[in-house]
Amino acid sequence: MSLMDRPDNMERITTPELAQVFIDEQIALAREQIGDKKVLLALSGGVDSSVVAALLIKAVGKQLVCVHVNHGLLRKGEPEQVIEVFKNQMDANLIYVDAVDRFLDLLAGVSDPEEKRHIIGEEFINVFADEARKLEGVDFLAQGTIWPDILESRDGIKAHHNAGGLPDDIAERFELVEPVRPLFKDEVRVVGKQLGLPDDMVYRQPFPGPGLGVRCPGAITRDRLEAVRESDAILREEFAKNGLEGKVWQYFTVVPDFKSTGIKDGKRTFDWPCIIRAINTTDVVEVTVEHLPDELIDHLVKRIIAEVPGINRVLYDFTPKPPATVEYE
Ligand code: XMP
Repeated sequence: MSLMDRPDNMERITTPELAQVFIDEQIALAREQIGDKKVLLALSGGVDSSVVAALLIKAVGKQLVCVHVNHGLLRKGEPEQVIEVFKNQMDANLIYVDAVDRFLDLLAGVSDPEEKRHIIGEEFINVFADEARKLEGVDFLAQGTIWPDILESRDGIKAHHNAGGLPDDIAERFELVEPVRPLFKDEVRVVGKQLGLPDDMVYRQPFPGPGLGVRCPGAITRDRLEAVRESDAILREEFAKNGLEGKVWQYFTVVPDFKSTGIKDGKRTFDWPCIIRAINTTDVVEVTVEHLPDELIDHLVKRIIAEVPGINRVLYDFTPKPPATVEYE
């Protein structure tokens, strides 16, 4: 039953009890659909794919084959968390693909934002398809499609990924399994919590598919990408410490491709700036800027400059959307 629509009268899943009813139903449906066959899942570590993984591990155990592709553009600690939660704690059948060099080599020298996105998307499919071709006896492909994806593609707002994008020889092999398809995002989180996923996985802020690549504007270099990753980790740590995690809708850093003069230990520096962006929204169409307390800004400036190699200046982005978009590319 991959094409399961949300019934008009479906009760909103807001409590652990309702989540458990949904989980039990989906486990039964998944077992019925999958039988003794294998099912493949691209597990990014985002909320939707993580909830699908946790649910299908309960339903069919090692018949689920998770593939986690590390494209080098993930946030600090993300691949490690996927391995810890799914392989170590849930004993999943997890294939970890270190594709960092493959992606960064392809992206070297590419500065056009659309070309960067295209390369990242296409290479992701190539890596996943390579893994799929290696596996024998996999008949199903699980996806973290959720109900807003279906509504948006019906309304022509955005194309829904589905198996689209996979080469024909791969796509034709699989029947889809979409256990969270009837759910809205807040319901996916309630279900994820009930499945025992950690809070920082269930309540994580939105993160674009091309990852830190869009926060390293222009041609990505490994050193500037590391500056984005390290400054982002500091920002997330400080937001958590200051009770802002889960309160501010999205926050991240950007390291643009220009340098300016500074001074450190009495010596001239010539390094990148780090831009902080923190925003709130309800619909992502219009976005307002979160104004941080002065002390927190001062502390972030000190920590980022002291701890992130290559940064000598910290800037704050005060621009709402419109006129600016959330991401820089
Ligand atoms: P923009 O920059 O369009 O971002 O104002 C709006 C929201 O969408 C996220 N975003 C993406 N998410 N793939 C995604 O999955 C993408 O290519 C992508 N681009 C932007 C962005 O982080 C913000 O939450």
